[in-house]
Amino acid sequence: MIDLHNHILFGVDDGAQTIADSLAMIKAGAARGFHTFVLTPHYMIYRGYTSPYEKNKIIFEQIKTACRKEGLSVKLILGNELQYEFALTERYGEDVYTAMGGTDYYLIETTRQNGTALGLLNFVLFLEKQGKKAVLAHPERYDFVQDDPNVLLDFIRRGVLIQSNYLSLIDYYDQKTTETVKIMLEHHMVHLLGSDAHQTEAYDLYPRAEAVGVELVGETQWRAFFTENAGAFLSGKDFDIIEPKPFRKPAKFGRVEEPDLSRWQKHTLL
Ligand SMILES: [Fe+2]
Repeated sequence: MIDLHNHILFGVDDGAQTIADSLAMIKAGAARGFHTFVLTPHYMIYRGYTSPYEKNKIIFEQIKTACRKEGLSVKLILGNELQYEFALTERYGEDVYTAMGGTDYYLIETTRQNGTALGLLNFVLFLEKQGKKAVLAHPERYDFVQDDPNVLLDFIRRGVLIQSNYLSLIDYYDQKTTETVKIMLEHHMVHLLGSDAHQTEAYDLYPRAEAVGVELVGETQWRAFFTENAGAFLSGKDFDIIEPKPFRKPAKFGRVEEPDLSRWQKHTLL
């Protein structure tokens, strides 16, 4: 299995702090069946997590060497998780932050509260102008997605891939996130899953998430998120993308609320 999102790279964000932490996380992930890890340290300007790519590469090589010494046969790939703010467009360049391994995709996120679809979509447009694309990290955690999951249709139609956290399925964050990720999975609004591990616990909890996920989407689809989809993604190949279904919000008094799709059908933001 492939983990496309984690904070294993030590000493640069709120994930692993030491090389021992990094190794413990890799071992915990490997014990749950992960053989490939895309290390995606935060590039988050407001919290001062701005370790440049050149520095990250040095730490990355240290972890790879340590894995070899310990006889861990895992594949490590370097990326970033970019928290959107306008300054990212001014800092664009391989020496500052990077795409996910050799792909053309940048992993992007926004704040849980008060983030906007518009800011993210404008960043997606900026990346398109550079010939690049985006993976949206854990949108189930954003309040504007929780309010209306259909906002993701804008992203998906624009070619953005959606990556959810498997921990979202087991109330690891909060109940609203759990409800939202379930809606997203049921409406084909998820293409990839990741751990977003900041410590070993995220891997230790994988079996609980798997049990819920398999119940929801079936064994084949669940495995595909971590194997076929993630593998094709990393090799720049296409994988099956099912047309998403708009979410019909249940109304308070038993009536089903039809989704208002006019704003997606009649005009786009970009
Ligand atoms: Fe993350």
